[in-house]
Amino acid sequence: MLNIGVIGYGFIGKVHTQHYMNNPNVNRVIIADPLEENRKNAEKMGLKTYENFEDMLNLEKLDAISICTPHHTHRDITLRVMDFKIPILLEKPVATSREEIKEIIEKGERLNIKVMVAHSLRFSDTFRLAKKLIEEGEIGEILFIIGKYLAFKDYNQYPKWKTTKKEAWGGTLFRDGIHIVDAIVWFSGKKIASVNGLPLNLLFNTEVEDTFLGTINFQDGSIAQLSMSSITKGFEQIGLEIYGEKGSIKVTNDELVFYKEDDTPRYIKPAIGASDFWKNQIDHFVDCIIKNKEPIVTLKEAEKTMEAIFMLYESAKV
Ligand SMILES: NC(=O)c1ccc[n+]([C@@H]2O[C@H](COP(=O)([O-])OP(=O)(O)OC[C@H]3O[C@@H](n4cnc5c(N)ncnc54)[C@H](O)[C@@H]3O)[C@@H](O)[C@H]2O)c1
Repeated sequence: MLNIGVIGYGFIGKVHTQHYMNNPNVNRVIIADPLEENRKNAEKMGLKTYENFEDMLNLEKLDAISICTPHHTHRDITLRVMDFKIPILLEKPVATSREEIKEIIEKGERLNIKVMVAHSLRFSDTFRLAKKLIEEGEIGEILFIIGKYLAFKDYNQYPKWKTTKKEAWGGTLFRDGIHIVDAIVWFSGKKIASVNGLPLNLLFNTEVEDTFLGTINFQDGSIAQLSMSSITKGFEQIGLEIYGEKGSIKVTNDELVFYKEDDTPRYIKPAIGASDFWKNQIDHFVDCIIKNKEPIVTLKEAEKTMEAIFMLYESAKV
């Protein structure tokens, strides 16, 4: 039975905690968060808390850690936790620069630490099925992908850090659209030739963008088009359309529809619906610890997604 430490008990820290508590292989969850209000919330759930994560690491016997803190803290906290040589589930984005990511990868490899990155859509049943269909050649070579993360987020109600360059580093692409870019990199598996990115502030006057449009051009000539926005009220669209030589897939977490051109063109809707990808992600991480398996989203895998993200921001700074 595992004892898990969760660093950062905000929105996603609470989600990690709940799923750990529901996992039969987890004994206790312990929280570290500098905010008293958040520690009180955790204590109301019967959880032991620490103000400082280093105290938690020093005083508790922990088997693994989730890092659920603001983006600018990921590097320092991850490197420090690695000194304790226990598995880490690190929230996306890995860190805020290529150099920071290299440092994390280098130390993780040197100390042989299991690190999984929370690219959560890889744990969605429908997204997993899309990957399987692509791998089995059902739609042939991918030619064109449309990726959307359109979901209204009121920046005025957000924790302040999410709107500042220093702490969040980026806005809708870095925080949300990254899930779609990760799915594109994962589904396509192709090398990127070039990108075009356009960060915009259409509604909120913050340091980080509320909208990001872009394209990712792959070396084989295929292309992905991105629409990410936090200002789109009413019609939430988080998913991908993947157009191949022989067919197409439309996927969200709610459903997958598959168009195939055999003898008779047809639409196929597998009997598979919405899944709790956050639960699947935590269960996978626990399973990887218990069975000493390599997680499906390693730092190296996440680094490919981060490269696409950094390229997209850099292309806009011309
Ligand atoms: N995988 C997903 O689907 C998903 C969803 C939401 C957020 N996230 C990611 O999770 C991370 C946290 O986002 P959030 O929405 O929960 O933010 P949040 O602001 O709700 O929570 C962050 C928490 O970290 C705490 N914190 C700050 N510095 C700390 C430190 N040094 N030690 C311990 N705790 C500290 C804050 O007090 C706060 O409670 C981000 O990287 C975000 O991108 C991932």
